[in-house]
Amino acid sequence: MCSFTVSAESSDAFSWNAKLGRGINLGNFLESKRGKTWMGEPKAEYFDLMQQAGFDSVRIPVRWSAYTAAEAPYRIEPDFLKRVDGVIDEVLSRGMLAVVNVHHFEEFMHAPETEKPRLLAIWKQLSEHYQDYPPELFFETLNEPVDNVSPEFWNACQNEIIAVIRQSNPKRMIQVSSLGWNRIDKLPLLELPPDPYLIASVHFYDPHPFTHQGASWVDYDPPVGRKFPQSDKEKLQIKRNLDQAAAWSKEHGIPINVGEFGAFSKADMDSRIRWTRFVREEFEQRGFSWNYWEFGSSFGIYDARKGEWRLGLVAALLGKESAQALQRR
Ligand code: BGC
Repeated sequence: MCSFTVSAESSDAFSWNAKLGRGINLGNFLESKRGKTWMGEPKAEYFDLMQQAGFDSVRIPVRWSAYTAAEAPYRIEPDFLKRVDGVIDEVLSRGMLAVVNVHHFEEFMHAPETEKPRLLAIWKQLSEHYQDYPPELFFETLNEPVDNVSPEFWNACQNEIIAVIRQSNPKRMIQVSSLGWNRIDKLPLLELPPDPYLIASVHFYDPHPFTHQGASWVDYDPPVGRKFPQSDKEKLQIKRNLDQAAAWSKEHGIPINVGEFGAFSKADMDSRIRWTRFVREEFEQRGFSWNYWEFGSSFGIYDARKGEWRLGLVAALLGKESAQALQRR
């Protein structure tokens, strides 16, 4: 299993990862609960804004499980599929890369054995549906496998997903997820087939009590007020964790995408900007591509209500010149 080294072919994966480059998440839209989105409909204007800012890619989290039949063959509702097609087309037609995933499949996290057939059926349908799409569309197997999903189960299941996708998409880039909220320190648990078109997807929210302060969905209730950085040691720890991921990537010949990172709006803006700039630069120094979490909601770099960029965050992600260019528009 996962012991292949960089070959001429897997160097393609590194160049595709470089094209993924600096990206954004279309968070709080299509992964919201059935029937409503947390952000309204994704407007064409948002994709213009992403393109103008200079993003290379858009990760599109999708809650497919809310739009599939409960019984085999677990048909995806055609209208919903069309909606997602529309979003993918908005991204690709602006020259950005698109990553589509399976997000918030909560039933799977609670009962992985029971729900595995549905996950595989979702991927069979998506693979066949998108097989003629350009290679700039990537697939990501599953967001944040947690709860009752054990490493052994996940390795076997993810490899089955890859096999299902490969039946119709022999060379499409697939992002594979590490366990425990896509944690970096769980990368060594991954066992993957010798497939040269894989990218490992990790999420980075450390220190979690800083990035998630005041977040109602976090069970330990991280208190508001923590700044970043608290000490140089904190920064050193981040660098060490990222070094581990870089070493894993080199050893296995699999590039890294940081598919999510961001700091929630309850932290003070100066600390958020410092953290975002610091980790973004550290990712880039190690050759990781990234997708900031997220565009226009509570971590957002864009204030959708006011119709304004949060320019400090834009500068932290894309540089001062990009922020100044957006300000002049
Ligand atoms: C979840 C979001 C959450 C974010 C940060 C994402 O994977 O989908 O709901 O805001 O992580 O915790």
